[in-house]
Amino acid sequence: MTTVPDKTFYLETFGCQMNAHDSEKVIGTLEREGYRRVESEEEASLILYNTCSVRDKAEQKVFHRLNDYKFMRKKGKRFAVLGCVAQQEGENIFSRAPYVSLVSGSASYRKLPEMLARLEAGEERITGLDDRQSEETFDTDATNRQNPYRGYITIIEGCDKFCTYCVVPFTRGKERSRSSSSVLDEARRIADQGYTEIQLLGQNVNSYLDPEEKKNFAELLAAVGQLQGIRRVRFMTSHPKDFTRDIVEAIDAYPTLCDQVHLPVQSGSARVLKAMAREYTPEWYLERIAWIKAARRKISISTDIIVGFPGETAEDFVQTMELLGQVEYDCVFSFKYSPRPNTPALALIDTLSEAETDKRLQVLLDRQREIQRINYSKHIGELMEVMVEGHNPVRAQISTRSSQNKTVNVTWSQPIAPAPGTYLQVRITAAHPNSLIGVVESSI
Ligand code: SAH
Ligand code: SF4
Ligand code: F3S
Repeated sequence: MTTVPDKTFYLETFGCQMNAHDSEKVIGTLEREGYRRVESEEEASLILYNTCSVRDKAEQKVFHRLNDYKFMRKKGKRFAVLGCVAQQEGENIFSRAPYVSLVSGSASYRKLPEMLARLEAGEERITGLDDRQSEETFDTDATNRQNPYRGYITIIEGCDKFCTYCVVPFTRGKERSRSSSSVLDEARRIADQGYTEIQLLGQNVNSYLDPEEKKNFAELLAAVGQLQGIRRVRFMTSHPKDFTRDIVEAIDAYPTLCDQVHLPVQSGSARVLKAMAREYTPEWYLERIAWIKAARRKISISTDIIVGFPGETAEDFVQTMELLGQVEYDCVFSFKYSPRPNTPALALIDTLSEAETDKRLQVLLDRQREIQRINYSKHIGELMEVMVEGHNPVRAQISTRSSQNKTVNVTWSQPIAPAPGTYLQVRITAAHPNSLIGVVESSI
Protein backbone atom coordinates (compact mmCIF):
# COMPACT_ATOMS: atom_id res chain seq x y z
CA MET A 1 0.00 0.00 0.00
CA THR A 2 1.31 3.43 -0.93
CA THR A 3 0.79 6.15 1.62
CA VAL A 4 0.84 9.89 1.08
CA PRO A 5 3.96 11.06 2.95
CA ASP A 6 2.64 14.45 3.97
CA LYS A 7 -0.48 16.41 3.24
CA THR A 8 0.75 19.10 0.89
CA PHE A 9 -0.81 20.07 -2.41
CA TYR A 10 0.04 22.09 -5.48
CA LEU A 11 -2.85 23.34 -7.59
CA GLU A 12 -2.66 24.95 -11.00
CA THR A 13 -5.70 26.37 -12.77
CA PHE A 14 -6.28 26.66 -16.51
CA GLY A 15 -9.19 28.29 -18.32
CA CYS A 16 -11.84 30.81 -17.41
CA GLN A 17 -12.83 32.67 -14.27
CA MET A 18 -15.40 30.00 -13.45
CA ASN A 19 -12.50 27.57 -13.19
CA ALA A 20 -10.49 30.04 -11.10
CA HIS A 21 -13.43 30.29 -8.72
CA ASP A 22 -13.91 26.49 -8.64
CA SER A 23 -10.25 26.28 -7.61
CA GLU A 24 -10.96 28.63 -4.70
CA LYS A 25 -13.51 26.06 -3.55
CA VAL A 26 -11.12 23.16 -4.06
CA ILE A 27 -8.37 24.94 -2.08
CA GLY A 28 -10.77 25.63 0.80
CA THR A 29 -11.95 22.03 0.79
CA LEU A 30 -8.41 20.60 0.78
CA GLU A 31 -7.32 22.89 3.59
CA ARG A 32 -10.30 21.78 5.63
CA GLU A 33 -9.07 18.22 5.14
CA GLY A 34 -5.72 19.14 6.66
CA TYR A 35 -3.78 19.75 3.44
CA ARG A 36 -1.37 22.65 3.10
CA ARG A 37 -0.86 24.51 -0.16
CA VAL A 38 2.67 24.77 -1.55
CA GLU A 39 4.10 26.74 -4.44
CA SER A 40 5.60 24.02 -6.65
CA GLU A 41 5.11 20.47 -7.85
CA GLU A 42 8.43 19.53 -6.21
CA GLU A 43 7.21 20.42 -2.70
CA ALA A 44 3.80 18.76 -2.98
CA SER A 45 2.58 15.28 -2.19
CA LEU A 46 -0.60 15.83 -4.19
CA ILE A 47 -0.52 17.66 -7.53
CA LEU A 48 -3.83 18.91 -8.93
CA TYR A 49 -4.58 20.48 -12.29
CA ASN A 50 -7.93 22.19 -12.75
CA THR A 51 -8.27 21.97 -16.50
CA CYS A 52 -9.87 23.70 -19.48
CA SER A 53 -11.05 22.06 -22.66
CA VAL A 54 -12.42 24.97 -24.67
CA ARG A 55 -9.71 24.79 -27.32
CA ASP A 56 -7.34 21.95 -28.17
CA LYS A 57 -4.31 23.96 -27.01
CA ALA A 58 -5.81 24.33 -23.55
CA GLU A 59 -6.45 20.60 -23.34
CA GLN A 60 -2.95 19.71 -24.56
CA LYS A 61 -1.39 21.97 -21.94
CA VAL A 62 -2.45 19.72 -19.10
CA PHE A 63 -1.18 16.54 -20.79
CA HIS A 64 2.16 18.25 -21.42
CA ARG A 65 2.32 19.36 -17.82
CA LEU A 66 1.51 15.84 -16.61
CA ASN A 67 4.16 14.43 -18.92
CA ASP A 68 6.77 16.87 -17.60
CA TYR A 69 6.18 15.76 -14.02
CA LYS A 70 5.22 12.10 -14.37
CA PHE A 71 8.66 11.00 -13.09
CA MET A 72 7.56 12.29 -9.71
CA ARG A 73 5.03 9.46 -9.41
CA LYS A 74 7.97 7.24 -8.47
CA LYS A 75 8.62 9.49 -5.49
CA GLY A 76 5.13 8.72 -4.19
CA LYS A 77 3.49 11.90 -5.43
CA ARG A 78 -0.08 11.67 -6.65
CA PHE A 79 -1.72 13.44 -9.58
CA ALA A 80 -5.31 14.63 -9.82
CA VAL A 81 -7.02 16.03 -12.92
CA LEU A 82 -10.06 18.20 -12.19
CA GLY A 83 -12.34 20.39 -14.26
CA CYS A 84 -13.48 20.42 -17.87
CA VAL A 85 -10.94 18.02 -19.42
CA ALA A 86 -11.62 15.58 -16.58
CA GLN A 87 -15.35 15.85 -17.14
CA GLN A 88 -14.96 15.45 -20.91
CA GLU A 89 -12.47 12.59 -20.92
CA GLY A 90 -13.49 10.73 -17.75
CA GLU A 91 -11.66 7.44 -17.33
CA ASN A 92 -9.87 7.96 -20.69
CA ILE A 93 -7.49 10.14 -18.69
CA PHE A 94 -6.12 6.99 -17.04
CA SER A 95 -5.16 5.56 -20.42
CA ARG A 96 -3.73 8.85 -21.71
CA ALA A 97 -1.82 9.48 -18.48
CA PRO A 98 -1.62 6.22 -16.48
CA TYR A 99 0.17 7.83 -13.51
CA VAL A 100 -2.92 9.92 -12.66
CA SER A 101 -4.74 8.74 -9.54
CA LEU A 102 -7.81 10.93 -9.37
CA VAL A 103 -10.14 12.31 -12.04
CA SER A 104 -12.88 14.61 -10.91
CA GLY A 105 -15.21 17.25 -12.36
CA SER A 106 -14.40 20.55 -10.65
CA ALA A 107 -17.77 20.81 -8.97
CA SER A 108 -17.25 17.48 -7.28
CA TYR A 109 -15.11 19.18 -4.64
CA ARG A 110 -17.97 18.12 -2.41
CA LYS A 111 -16.92 14.55 -2.99
CA LEU A 112 -13.22 15.46 -2.60
CA PRO A 113 -12.94 14.64 1.13
CA GLU A 114 -14.22 11.12 0.51
CA MET A 115 -12.03 10.72 -2.60
CA LEU A 116 -8.97 11.99 -0.70
CA ALA A 117 -9.55 9.46 2.05
CA ARG A 118 -9.56 6.69 -0.56
CA LEU A 119 -6.40 8.13 -2.09
CA GLU A 120 -4.68 8.23 1.29
CA ALA A 121 -5.73 4.62 1.83
CA GLY A 122 -3.73 3.74 -1.28
CA GLU A 123 -6.45 3.38 -3.91
CA GLU A 124 -4.91 3.88 -7.34
CA ARG A 125 -7.70 5.09 -9.61
CA ILE A 126 -10.55 7.20 -8.37
CA THR A 127 -13.15 8.87 -10.56
CA GLY A 128 -15.72 11.36 -9.33
CA LEU A 129 -17.51 12.99 -12.20
CA ASP A 130 -20.39 15.40 -11.75
CA ASP A 131 -23.94 14.77 -12.69
CA ARG A 132 -23.91 18.52 -13.38
CA GLN A 133 -27.63 18.80 -12.75
CA SER A 134 -28.04 20.01 -9.20
CA GLU A 135 -27.78 23.41 -7.58
CA GLU A 136 -25.51 21.87 -4.98
CA THR A 137 -22.49 22.77 -7.04
CA PHE A 138 -22.78 26.50 -6.35
CA ASP A 139 -21.74 27.23 -2.87
CA THR A 140 -19.47 25.94 -0.16
CA ASP A 141 -18.40 27.69 3.00
CA ALA A 142 -14.97 26.10 2.48
CA THR A 143 -14.18 28.61 -0.30
CA ASN A 144 -10.72 30.09 0.16
CA ARG A 145 -10.75 33.29 -1.89
CA GLN A 146 -7.42 33.84 -3.63
CA ASN A 147 -8.11 37.17 -5.31
CA PRO A 148 -7.31 39.96 -2.83
CA TYR A 149 -9.63 42.56 -4.34
CA ARG A 150 -12.38 40.74 -6.25
CA GLY A 151 -14.94 38.30 -4.86
CA TYR A 152 -16.33 35.83 -7.40
CA ILE A 153 -19.86 34.48 -7.12
CA THR A 154 -21.30 31.82 -9.40
CA ILE A 155 -24.92 32.70 -10.16
CA ILE A 156 -25.62 30.26 -12.98
CA GLU A 157 -23.91 27.00 -13.97
CA GLY A 158 -23.81 25.13 -17.26
CA CYS A 159 -25.12 26.05 -20.69
CA ASP A 160 -28.03 24.91 -22.85
CA LYS A 161 -27.07 26.90 -25.95
CA PHE A 162 -25.03 24.23 -27.73
CA CYS A 163 -23.21 26.53 -30.14
CA THR A 164 -21.91 24.10 -32.74
CA TYR A 165 -18.20 24.63 -31.94
CA CYS A 166 -18.36 24.56 -28.14
CA VAL A 167 -17.58 21.89 -25.53
CA VAL A 168 -18.94 23.80 -22.55
CA PRO A 169 -22.47 22.25 -22.57
CA PHE A 170 -20.77 18.85 -22.43
CA THR A 171 -18.30 19.73 -19.68
CA ARG A 172 -20.46 21.93 -17.47
CA GLY A 173 -23.83 20.36 -18.01
CA LYS A 174 -27.27 21.83 -18.22
CA GLU A 175 -28.04 25.39 -17.34
CA ARG A 176 -29.24 25.99 -13.79
CA SER A 177 -29.60 29.24 -11.84
CA ARG A 178 -28.98 29.67 -8.18
CA SER A 179 -31.57 31.31 -5.93
CA SER A 180 -31.13 35.06 -5.57
CA SER A 181 -31.35 34.82 -1.79
CA SER A 182 -28.32 32.54 -1.73
CA VAL A 183 -26.44 34.84 -4.17
CA LEU A 184 -27.21 37.86 -1.97
CA ASP A 185 -26.19 35.97 1.20
CA GLU A 186 -22.84 35.14 -0.35
CA ALA A 187 -22.41 38.73 -1.57
CA ARG A 188 -23.06 40.02 1.95
CA ARG A 189 -20.54 37.56 3.39
CA ILE A 190 -17.97 38.74 0.85
CA ALA A 191 -18.66 42.38 1.73
CA ASP A 192 -18.23 41.51 5.44
CA GLN A 193 -14.80 40.06 4.60
CA GLY A 194 -13.85 43.50 3.24
CA TYR A 195 -14.34 43.01 -0.50
CA THR A 196 -15.80 46.00 -2.33
CA GLU A 197 -15.79 44.40 -5.80
CA ILE A 198 -17.93 41.46 -6.82
CA GLN A 199 -17.94 39.58 -10.09
CA LEU A 200 -21.01 37.53 -10.92
CA LEU A 201 -20.06 34.46 -12.93
CA GLY A 202 -21.77 32.18 -15.39
CA GLN A 203 -21.37 30.92 -18.94
CA ASN A 204 -24.40 33.05 -19.72
CA VAL A 205 -25.12 35.29 -16.74
CA ASN A 206 -27.98 37.06 -18.46
CA SER A 207 -29.91 33.81 -18.93
CA TYR A 208 -30.24 33.92 -15.15
CA LEU A 209 -33.68 33.31 -13.69
CA ASP A 210 -34.15 32.88 -9.96
CA PRO A 211 -35.81 29.46 -9.50
CA GLU A 212 -37.69 30.74 -6.43
CA GLU A 213 -38.56 34.42 -6.69
CA LYS A 214 -38.32 34.61 -10.48
CA LYS A 215 -35.92 37.57 -10.30
CA ASN A 216 -34.28 38.07 -13.68
CA PHE A 217 -30.66 39.02 -14.23
CA ALA A 218 -31.20 42.80 -14.27
CA GLU A 219 -33.14 42.59 -10.99
CA LEU A 220 -30.39 40.51 -9.41
CA LEU A 221 -27.78 43.01 -10.64
CA ALA A 222 -29.73 45.87 -9.10
CA ALA A 223 -30.02 44.01 -5.78
CA VAL A 224 -26.29 43.22 -5.63
CA GLY A 225 -25.46 46.79 -6.68
CA GLN A 226 -27.36 48.16 -3.68
CA LEU A 227 -25.60 46.06 -1.04
CA GLN A 228 -23.88 47.92 1.75
CA GLY A 229 -20.11 48.12 1.19
CA ILE A 230 -20.15 47.03 -2.46
CA ARG A 231 -18.62 49.61 -4.80
CA ARG A 232 -18.10 47.61 -7.99
CA VAL A 233 -20.16 44.86 -9.56
CA ARG A 234 -19.00 43.11 -12.73
CA PHE A 235 -20.49 40.17 -14.62
CA MET A 236 -19.20 37.64 -17.15
CA THR A 237 -20.30 36.43 -19.72
CA SER A 238 -23.39 37.76 -21.46
CA HIS A 239 -25.02 36.09 -24.45
CA PRO A 240 -26.51 38.43 -27.09
CA LYS A 241 -29.63 36.26 -27.42
CA ASP A 242 -30.62 36.90 -23.80
CA PHE A 243 -29.26 40.44 -23.48
CA THR A 244 -32.21 42.61 -22.49
CA ARG A 245 -32.55 46.36 -22.30
CA ASP A 246 -33.22 46.34 -18.55
CA ILE A 247 -29.56 45.36 -18.02
CA VAL A 248 -28.50 48.71 -19.49
CA GLU A 249 -31.22 50.45 -17.46
CA ALA A 250 -29.85 48.83 -14.28
CA ILE A 251 -26.32 50.04 -15.12
CA ASP A 252 -27.78 53.51 -15.65
CA ALA A 253 -29.65 53.41 -12.32
CA TYR A 254 -26.90 52.02 -10.06
CA PRO A 255 -23.43 53.58 -10.29
CA THR A 256 -21.93 50.58 -8.47
CA LEU A 257 -22.62 48.47 -11.57
CA CYS A 258 -19.46 48.83 -13.63
CA ASP A 259 -19.69 50.55 -17.01
CA GLN A 260 -18.47 47.48 -18.83
CA VAL A 261 -20.23 44.80 -20.90
CA HIS A 262 -18.57 41.75 -22.42
CA LEU A 263 -20.83 40.62 -25.28
CA PRO A 264 -19.26 37.87 -27.41
CA VAL A 265 -20.30 38.18 -31.06
CA GLN A 266 -18.12 35.37 -32.55
CA SER A 267 -18.66 36.55 -36.17
CA GLY A 268 -20.06 39.44 -38.17
CA SER A 269 -21.53 37.16 -40.85
CA ALA A 270 -25.18 36.08 -40.61
CA ARG A 271 -24.32 32.90 -42.47
CA VAL A 272 -21.52 31.94 -40.09
CA LEU A 273 -23.61 32.86 -37.03
CA LYS A 274 -26.30 30.53 -38.32
CA ALA A 275 -23.79 27.71 -38.81
CA MET A 276 -22.58 28.35 -35.28
CA ALA A 277 -26.20 28.16 -33.98
CA ARG A 278 -25.74 31.47 -32.16
CA GLU A 279 -29.46 32.29 -32.58
CA TYR A 280 -29.00 35.94 -33.58
CA THR A 281 -28.07 37.97 -36.65
CA PRO A 282 -25.54 40.81 -36.87
CA GLU A 283 -28.51 43.25 -36.92
CA TRP A 284 -29.91 41.80 -33.68
CA TYR A 285 -26.47 42.07 -32.11
CA LEU A 286 -25.95 45.66 -33.28
CA GLU A 287 -29.33 46.66 -31.84
CA ARG A 288 -28.12 45.54 -28.39
CA ILE A 289 -24.87 47.46 -28.97
CA ALA A 290 -26.96 50.54 -29.78
CA TRP A 291 -28.81 50.21 -26.42
CA ILE A 292 -25.47 49.95 -24.63
CA LYS A 293 -24.08 52.96 -26.48
CA ALA A 294 -27.18 55.01 -25.63
CA ALA A 295 -26.60 54.59 -21.87
CA ARG A 296 -26.03 57.69 -19.77
CA ARG A 297 -22.53 56.56 -18.77
CA LYS A 298 -20.17 55.53 -21.55
CA ILE A 299 -20.10 51.74 -21.28
CA SER A 300 -16.97 49.93 -22.41
CA ILE A 301 -17.71 47.01 -24.72
CA SER A 302 -15.60 43.92 -25.30
CA THR A 303 -16.16 40.71 -27.27
CA ASP A 304 -14.94 37.27 -28.36
CA ILE A 305 -14.42 36.39 -32.02
CA ILE A 306 -13.67 33.06 -33.67
CA VAL A 307 -11.65 33.26 -36.87
CA GLY A 308 -11.68 30.47 -39.44
CA PHE A 309 -14.90 28.71 -38.49
CA PRO A 310 -15.48 25.89 -41.05
CA GLY A 311 -16.71 27.41 -44.30
CA GLU A 312 -15.85 31.02 -43.34
CA THR A 313 -15.34 32.77 -46.70
CA ALA A 314 -13.29 35.88 -47.39
CA GLU A 315 -16.60 37.77 -47.60
CA ASP A 316 -17.75 36.43 -44.19
CA PHE A 317 -14.50 37.64 -42.71
CA VAL A 318 -14.92 41.08 -44.30
CA GLN A 319 -18.28 41.29 -42.53
CA THR A 320 -16.61 40.53 -39.20
CA MET A 321 -14.12 43.32 -39.90
CA GLU A 322 -16.97 45.70 -40.72
CA LEU A 323 -18.69 44.87 -37.45
CA LEU A 324 -15.43 45.51 -35.61
CA GLY A 325 -15.32 48.97 -37.19
CA GLN A 326 -18.94 49.69 -36.29
CA VAL A 327 -18.77 48.67 -32.63
CA GLU A 328 -15.27 49.99 -31.90
CA TYR A 329 -14.60 47.57 -29.05
CA ASP A 330 -12.26 48.37 -26.18
CA CYS A 331 -11.05 44.78 -26.12
CA VAL A 332 -11.39 41.72 -28.36
CA PHE A 333 -10.45 38.14 -27.48
CA SER A 334 -9.91 36.47 -30.84
CA PHE A 335 -9.40 32.76 -31.30
CA LYS A 336 -8.62 30.48 -34.19
CA TYR A 337 -11.37 27.92 -34.55
CA SER A 338 -10.41 24.69 -32.81
CA PRO A 339 -12.33 21.46 -33.53
CA ARG A 340 -13.62 19.97 -30.29
CA PRO A 341 -14.87 16.51 -29.32
CA ASN A 342 -18.63 15.87 -29.41
CA THR A 343 -19.43 19.16 -31.14
CA PRO A 344 -21.63 19.29 -34.26
CA ALA A 345 -19.17 21.57 -36.10
CA LEU A 346 -16.87 18.55 -36.46
CA ALA A 347 -19.18 17.35 -39.23
CA LEU A 348 -18.74 20.57 -41.23
CA ILE A 349 -16.30 20.62 -44.09
CA ASP A 350 -13.31 22.72 -43.17
CA THR A 351 -11.33 23.77 -46.24
CA LEU A 352 -9.65 26.88 -44.88
CA SER A 353 -5.88 26.53 -44.69
CA GLU A 354 -4.03 27.23 -41.46
CA ALA A 355 -2.07 29.95 -43.27
CA GLU A 356 -5.24 31.73 -44.38
CA THR A 357 -6.72 31.57 -40.87
CA ASP A 358 -3.47 32.99 -39.47
CA LYS A 359 -3.58 35.78 -42.04
CA ARG A 360 -7.16 36.71 -41.12
CA LEU A 361 -6.35 36.64 -37.42
CA GLN A 362 -3.45 39.02 -38.00
CA VAL A 363 -5.61 41.40 -40.05
CA LEU A 364 -8.13 41.42 -37.22
CA LEU A 365 -5.50 41.99 -34.53
CA ASP A 366 -3.92 44.88 -36.46
CA ARG A 367 -7.26 46.60 -37.08
CA GLN A 368 -8.38 46.14 -33.47
CA ARG A 369 -5.11 47.53 -32.16
CA GLU A 370 -5.72 50.66 -34.20
CA ILE A 371 -9.30 50.97 -32.86
CA GLN A 372 -8.05 50.59 -29.29
CA ARG A 373 -5.26 53.12 -29.82
CA ILE A 374 -7.91 55.68 -30.70
CA ASN A 375 -10.38 54.59 -27.97
CA TYR A 376 -7.76 54.63 -25.22
CA SER A 377 -6.24 57.95 -26.25
CA LYS A 378 -9.64 59.61 -25.71
CA HIS A 379 -9.10 59.18 -21.95
CA ILE A 380 -6.02 61.44 -21.83
CA GLY A 381 -6.66 64.30 -19.41
CA GLU A 382 -9.60 62.52 -17.71
CA LEU A 383 -9.89 62.15 -13.93
CA MET A 384 -10.72 58.54 -13.16
CA GLU A 385 -11.49 56.40 -10.12
CA VAL A 386 -9.33 53.29 -10.12
CA MET A 387 -8.82 50.35 -7.82
CA VAL A 388 -5.33 49.16 -6.93
CA GLU A 389 -4.54 45.59 -7.99
CA GLY A 390 -0.77 45.29 -7.66
CA HIS A 391 2.62 46.99 -7.27
CA ASN A 392 5.63 46.86 -9.56
CA PRO A 393 8.50 48.48 -7.61
CA VAL A 394 10.98 47.91 -10.47
CA ARG A 395 8.91 50.05 -12.84
CA ALA A 396 7.86 52.40 -10.02
CA GLN A 397 4.23 51.74 -10.89
CA ILE A 398 1.08 50.43 -9.32
CA SER A 399 -1.34 48.56 -11.55
CA THR A 400 -4.94 49.58 -11.16
CA ARG A 401 -8.24 49.05 -12.95
CA SER A 402 -10.97 51.45 -13.96
CA SER A 403 -14.68 50.74 -13.67
CA GLN A 404 -14.61 50.24 -17.46
CA ASN A 405 -12.14 47.39 -16.85
CA LYS A 406 -9.17 49.24 -18.35
CA THR A 407 -5.72 48.72 -16.90
CA VAL A 408 -4.29 51.98 -15.59
CA ASN A 409 -0.61 51.95 -14.64
CA VAL A 410 -0.03 54.68 -12.11
CA THR A 411 3.35 56.23 -11.38
CA TRP A 412 4.40 55.30 -7.82
CA SER A 413 7.93 55.96 -6.59
CA GLN A 414 7.47 55.35 -2.84
CA PRO A 415 8.59 51.94 -1.51
CA ILE A 416 5.23 51.10 0.05
CA ALA A 417 2.22 50.96 -2.24
CA PRO A 418 -1.46 51.18 -1.31
CA ALA A 419 -2.97 47.75 -0.63
CA PRO A 420 -4.88 45.92 -3.37
CA GLY A 421 -8.48 47.06 -3.21
CA THR A 422 -7.63 50.70 -2.40
CA TYR A 423 -9.42 53.32 -4.53
CA LEU A 424 -7.55 56.29 -5.98
CA GLN A 425 -8.40 59.24 -8.19
CA VAL A 426 -5.93 59.40 -11.04
CA ARG A 427 -5.36 61.80 -13.90
CA ILE A 428 -4.72 60.05 -17.21
CA THR A 429 -1.52 61.32 -18.80
CA ALA A 430 -0.87 58.86 -21.64
CA ALA A 431 -2.46 55.96 -23.47
CA HIS A 432 -1.43 52.72 -25.14
CA PRO A 433 -3.72 50.33 -27.07
CA ASN A 434 -4.13 48.08 -24.00
CA SER A 435 -3.50 50.31 -21.02
CA LEU A 436 -3.53 53.85 -19.70
CA ILE A 437 -0.92 55.76 -17.71
CA GLY A 438 -1.93 58.00 -14.83
CA VAL A 439 -0.79 59.99 -11.81
CA VAL A 440 -2.51 60.08 -8.44
CA GLU A 441 -4.62 63.15 -7.66
CA SER A 442 -6.03 61.79 -4.38
CA SER A 443 -7.02 58.62 -2.55
CA ILE A 444 -10.70 58.09 -1.85
N1 SAH B 1 -20.43 31.47 -22.89
C1 SAH B 1 -19.63 32.36 -23.56
C2 SAH B 1 -18.28 31.86 -24.01
C3 SAH B 1 -17.56 30.79 -23.34
S1 SAH B 1 -16.13 30.13 -24.10
C4 SAH B 1 -20.38 32.84 -24.78
O1 SAH B 1 -21.24 32.17 -25.28
O2 SAH B 1 -20.07 33.87 -25.29
C5 SAH B 1 -15.16 31.58 -24.39
C6 SAH B 1 -14.86 31.83 -25.82
O3 SAH B 1 -14.06 30.82 -26.35
C7 SAH B 1 -16.07 31.87 -26.74
O4 SAH B 1 -16.74 33.08 -26.68
C8 SAH B 1 -15.46 31.60 -28.07
O5 SAH B 1 -15.07 32.79 -28.72
C9 SAH B 1 -14.22 30.78 -27.74
N2 SAH B 1 -14.40 29.39 -28.16
C10 SAH B 1 -15.26 28.48 -27.68
N3 SAH B 1 -15.15 27.32 -28.34
C11 SAH B 1 -14.17 27.50 -29.28
C12 SAH B 1 -13.60 26.67 -30.30
N4 SAH B 1 -14.00 25.42 -30.48
N5 SAH B 1 -12.62 27.20 -31.05
C13 SAH B 1 -12.20 28.47 -30.88
N6 SAH B 1 -12.71 29.29 -29.95
C14 SAH B 1 -13.69 28.82 -29.16
FE1 SF4 C 1 -20.36 27.68 -25.48
FE2 SF4 C 1 -22.26 28.87 -26.82
FE3 SF4 C 1 -22.72 28.04 -24.35
FE4 SF4 C 1 -21.13 30.11 -24.79
S1 SF4 C 1 -23.31 30.00 -25.25
S2 SF4 C 1 -20.73 28.41 -23.42
S3 SF4 C 1 -20.11 29.56 -26.69
S4 SF4 C 1 -22.33 26.75 -26.11
FE1 F3S D 1 -12.49 26.17 -20.23
FE2 F3S D 1 -14.32 24.88 -18.89
FE3 F3S D 1 -14.06 27.49 -18.62
S1 F3S D 1 -13.76 24.51 -20.96
S2 F3S D 1 -13.33 28.15 -20.60
S3 F3S D 1 -12.59 25.99 -18.04
S4 F3S D 1 -15.95 26.35 -18.65
